[in-house]
Amino acid sequence: MDLGITGKTAIVTGAASGIGAGIASRLAEEGANVVVADINLPAAEAHAETIHAAGGVVLAVKANVTDADDVADMVERVVAAFGSVDILVNNAGLARDGRITKMSEEDWDLVLDVVLKGAFLCTRAVLPHMNQLKWGRIVNISSRAHLGNPGQANYSAAKAGIIGFTKAMALENGRNLITCNAVAPGMIDTPFVRAHPKWELIRDNAEKTTPVPRIGAAEDVADAVAFLVSERASYITGDVLHVTGGRY
Ligand SMILES: NC(=O)c1ccc[n+]([C@@H]2O[C@H](COP(=O)([O-])OP(=O)(O)OC[C@H]3O[C@@H](n4cnc5c(N)ncnc54)[C@H](O)[C@@H]3O)[C@@H](O)[C@H]2O)c1
Repeated sequence: MDLGITGKTAIVTGAASGIGAGIASRLAEEGANVVVADINLPAAEAHAETIHAAGGVVLAVKANVTDADDVADMVERVVAAFGSVDILVNNAGLARDGRITKMSEEDWDLVLDVVLKGAFLCTRAVLPHMNQLKWGRIVNISSRAHLGNPGQANYSAAKAGIIGFTKAMALENGRNLITCNAVAPGMIDTPFVRAHPKWELIRDNAEKTTPVPRIGAAEDVADAVAFLVSERASYITGDVLHVTGGRY
């Protein structure tokens, strides 16, 4: 299936690692110019090198998505390099888990800032370019945790919030043929979950309790994102696509 994104420019935030790296690689394979945007520049450059070696057109940019100046600089560099921005994937995210009575204000603020404020700042910065094009695709990476997870009040709130944000963006921007959808992954094998002290237990549980009996891969999420940013998904907006192997 031709996704129709050859030559389009896609910014993927948090693309130096895990799911974002998988999305960036997949969109490059589909012929998009890909921007590997991450707070960790050396890691972003390393992944960009991998994409380049595979024949992709790629630019690595250092950007902290919680910083409006960084985000503005990123978009300026992308427009200078590729002419515009057609696709934005708000993927940068992190967790700081803890029961609510033990959760610090810093951990609450950090998770909401990266996930929610980051998506706000990046979306606000790219929309003027998409409005000019009268075409655009925005995909926000939520999580199955939007349904609530014990020990993840900050993360669950942020990942539920991103769904409300997605729906508001779909309503505001549909007229300019800009769609906005969310992808909600379940347990995906990335450095983010491998860093968990109970990683092996988590993986074994996922294999036992997921209807499709395996832990997910970054490529599973990347395939869903590739579809949603494509021409094939032009009449889908404001929706949430779960990539969980059927596990809620
Ligand atoms: N792995 C999972 O099981 C899973 C499940 C559901 C949702 N998600 C979501 O998918 C996204 C990617 O997760 P992952 O598992 O690939 O994590 P990861 O830790 O492997 O990658 C996250 C990337 O985001 C970058 N990042 C962090 N803060 C940033 C900031 N302020 N500005 C720019 N970049 C920043 C990191 O440097 C890192 O490269 C996150 O939003 C996460 O919440 C992951």
